Amino acid sequence: MLDVEFRLENSWHPIEGDQGGRFVFTLVNLSDRPLQDFKLAYTTLTRVKQDPLCENAVFLKRNANFHQFSPPSGFVLQSGQSWRFTVQGLWRPARHRTDGAKSAYLTLADGQHVAVVVDDLMLEGRVSTAAPPLLPEGELAEPFCLLPWPADVALQAGKDIPVALYPVSGTQPDDLKAIHGLNLLYRRLFNVGHVPFSLAPVQQGLALRCASEPMLASDAYELVFGDEILLTYGGAAGRQYGLTALAQLLHGCRTDAEVFHFPASGQIKDAPRYAWRGCHLDVSRQFSPVADVRRLIDIMAWLRLNVFHWHLSDDEAWRLEIKAYPQLTTLGVLRGPDEPMLPQLGNGAAPVGGFYSQDDVKTIVAHAGALHIDVLPEIDIPGHSTAILTALPELVDGQEAPESYHSVQGFPNNALNPAIEQTYTFLGRVFDEMVQLFPSKLIHIGGDEVAANTWMASPLAKALMEKEGLDGTFGLQSYFMKRIQKMLAERGRQMAGWDEVSHGGGVDPNGTLLMAWQKPEVGVALAEQGYDVVMTPGQAYYLDMVQDDAWQEPGASWAGTVPPIHSYHYEAVGDFPETLKARMRGVQACIWTENFLNRDYFNHLVFPRLSAVAEAAWTPKDNKNWLRFAALAPLVPQL
Ligand code: ACM
Repeated sequence: MLDVEFRLENSWHPIEGDQGGRFVFTLVNLSDRPLQDFKLAYTTLTRVKQDPLCENAVFLKRNANFHQFSPPSGFVLQSGQSWRFTVQGLWRPARHRTDGAKSAYLTLADGQHVAVVVDDLMLEGRVSTAAPPLLPEGELAEPFCLLPWPADVALQAGKDIPVALYPVSGTQPDDLKAIHGLNLLYRRLFNVGHVPFSLAPVQQGLALRCASEPMLASDAYELVFGDEILLTYGGAAGRQYGLTALAQLLHGCRTDAEVFHFPASGQIKDAPRYAWRGCHLDVSRQFSPVADVRRLIDIMAWLRLNVFHWHLSDDEAWRLEIKAYPQLTTLGVLRGPDEPMLPQLGNGAAPVGGFYSQDDVKTIVAHAGALHIDVLPEIDIPGHSTAILTALPELVDGQEAPESYHSVQGFPNNALNPAIEQTYTFLGRVFDEMVQLFPSKLIHIGGDEVAANTWMASPLAKALMEKEGLDGTFGLQSYFMKRIQKMLAERGRQMAGWDEVSHGGGVDPNGTLLMAWQKPEVGVALAEQGYDVVMTPGQAYYLDMVQDDAWQEPGASWAGTVPPIHSYHYEAVGDFPETLKARMRGVQACIWTENFLNRDYFNHLVFPRLSAVAEAAWTPKDNKNWLRFAALAPLVPQL
């Protein structure tokens, strides 16, 4: 017997005069029994609008990316036969093979749910091409493995590869611990690679002398190569970056001794271009197990990134254990046909969940901290809050009409209501627990994508607008955000958020950091308003975007096509006038996971672009070199 006895094929067909085109679905019955009185559900980012036009099917329901249909009444799907139906009235065209159904299942007359396999979306009526190689053949002017490339490199290549680097006798315990830490990092990243360091002298090894130098910045380091290596560093972060550079140099030689050499003499003087070198991970749409989060943090350390932005909540799930509200990680996390939340984005007949216990969080924060990576936690409010509102329905204005507004992802009534006092009680308790878990000075509160008519059907919100003289949705949002800012300040923290936090009057920009994601110009506008800015424009730094226009290339495309060369060359600071440059704190890659159905998708989309953002974050513009990057990027470990 097959594991799964039903298969749904899907294709997309362009239609003149309807840019959304049409889906064609074919459900094949591979079981040995006929099927009747059933419903078919699938999830897709290419949603139907309100009333889709269906041939040979009846549309039953949509909630965000969840869709459900039934065959015409009386239809029997015989063993070995198929049911073909079409769906027209899509909110946008499909552009890539990942724009079709991501999951499907059947619900039988007795309520039982049955798994259905669904896979790539096929293209009809046009040629479906494969993408060309995304990285060219690399070219190294200097035979050294260093990524990101340092600020200042003047090295002469040697012939020999040291067996290992070992600390000179008398090395301070802190330095010994840091060297040991780097060996552990290396081993976690490369199961088979030869460790770079030995704490005891090694024959054919090279001695390493470490020295702190208060004149250097805390994240700066220098390396001088000769009969021994001298590593001077400003602080513990700089020491780690210097040791990482040494580990990379050796790793290159051992990976390909024809191409890479270890320096015989010369020096590296290095410090990061930007203080903020971030990588975000959305664990709401798809849950990342603790081991994967730790490995991503390890990879970040290898790339000298230093802020892990952990997107812990969204419409699809709340992932952070909050002891005051256990229902957040029971009701607010389970998606499935009979669960509090419907299947979305790849979920099928089996329920899915997943959350981080507070012990998990402590382990991850400590792991990152040891690698000089700050963890910036995000709970995404007031929009993107379906999971919260599912867990805590008392936060809904009972007088507000259902489906009175929809988020851009199609979730109905998905925002916390600023006019309900319990909203603030709830958030206060959540912040109380978060500040115990996360040492980060900033707490990210989301603030993105509140739909333009949000709360306008809520009598409570209307009354608050009148009382406070607030103007519409964004006046209310600003009122809400100001209160949140105050609540964070009472807990000794400052606010980070997405760029829309500035809407409707925004918040006090003093000490507030906003992430410019919608387009680069937004970053400059925010800086003009006095906000600190981190540049994360989707057009360059969203690693879920497709890397080529080819149909067969996976990923999202709303922000366009983002080939690795573009992520690499994009100069976020380029548009900032001199007077505002200081407000730009740095850059960040964002990993949104709607399309990340498995580890291979993750690796395909995240690499090499994460490395490209890391180099853009670290390396001075004039030292960037695309062909060198192309030669080095394949050596970066993946998830
Ligand atoms: C975002 O991509 N909605 C921040």
